[in-house]
Amino acid sequence: MAKQCIGLDIGSSAIKLVQLKPSGRVMGLQNFGIEPVQPQTIVDGVILNHGALVDAIKNLAKRIHLKGKDMALAVSGNSVIIKRLTIPSMEGAALDEQMEWEVRQNIPFSREEVLVDYEVLIKQTPTGQMEVLLVAAKREIVQQYLQVVRDAGFSPIIVDAAALALQNAVEGGVGFAAGEAVAIINVGATYSTLSIVSSGRPSFNRDLGIGGHTYTEAIQRHLGVSLDGAEAYKVGGAYAALGAQSDVVPQEVHRILWQVSEQVAEEFQRSIDFYMNDAIDARLGRIYLSGGSCLVPQLPKAIQDRSRVPVEIINPFARVVVDTRRFDVDYLRVNAPVATIAFGLAQRRPKDFE
Ligand SMILES: Nc1ncnc2c1ncn2[C@@H]1O[C@H](COP(=O)(O)OP(=O)(O)OP(=O)(O)O)[C@@H](O)[C@H]1O
Ligand SMILES: [Mg+2]
Repeated sequence: MAKQCIGLDIGSSAIKLVQLKPSGRVMGLQNFGIEPVQPQTIVDGVILNHGALVDAIKNLAKRIHLKGKDMALAVSGNSVIIKRLTIPSMEGAALDEQMEWEVRQNIPFSREEVLVDYEVLIKQTPTGQMEVLLVAAKREIVQQYLQVVRDAGFSPIIVDAAALALQNAVEGGVGFAAGEAVAIINVGATYSTLSIVSSGRPSFNRDLGIGGHTYTEAIQRHLGVSLDGAEAYKVGGAYAALGAQSDVVPQEVHRILWQVSEQVAEEFQRSIDFYMNDAIDARLGRIYLSGGSCLVPQLPKAIQDRSRVPVEIINPFARVVVDTRRFDVDYLRVNAPVATIAFGLAQRRPKDFE
């Protein structure tokens, strides 16, 4: 078996790294780490401070004694478009040509601006059609991320859409049941990625501009505190709701965390309803949550109440062998859902992208 890529998920608030190693028929955890990213380093998916990001990756790699060079990265947000298409069944050069046409029809950027990849999901449906997943990402943005990783001394060899890495993570981490539709929602700092998978196949993807910052900004606005203060209140409030010390967190913060969770749940529901309106699946069997902001304890409950679908915070390492002498198990347990996209990337083996 070829060796695994290092999964690196570069976010606007933190870099998450996962390295796996095949160990018999299962995967073993080889390395894991999270490094904070300073505000204004990445804004709206665009890297504004190249040097700061290079340093963050270098610091992380040094701190966790990372070995290996090959990395798999993810891109998300407005610069990535994923579309599931139904076209007449075909293959080879005819399919390539058809996909070029589909790119021009379906992607709102000029052809020169984007990098494109596609994957055949179903070769032939009973009606002689085929289902293809088309992924396009803005070349300029992808190049920015590739350059950061290169300048940090690594070889970026795979660039995946975050939504697809998320699906890979759930598939490898807990698996999909046949005949069931599930939603996976990664709630980050600036973006949330919603992905609906039906019978193990990607059916619907959408990135929404809501996440941890939605909470932080609401606290800042209502309590008139700094961004840092609001962030501390948020995380403190989140821990307090889990039963820890709550003396320093004003009651008001809990109310805001609830209110914003309900707004965020409403926003997710709108996208799920949009998919459900013309989906063949009557309902979702489950909603998996990941990303740093799924640690706001009010959020899973708000989503479950709103959707009436069982909500589960994903543990991508559920089936991974972890050497408890090398890793802090408590740290890993809390942060495993945060590293879900990185885990999905870490399952990839070297393969070209373009
Ligand atoms: N214990 C916690 N309680 C509440 N929120 C938390 C907690 N830990 C992290 N967060 C929030 O999670 C967010 C970071 O999550 P994550 O690392 O998934 O985001 P990111 O990938 O950097 O962001 P994006 O993908 O949107 O650019 C921040 O908004 C942070 O405040
Ligand atoms: Mg993220």
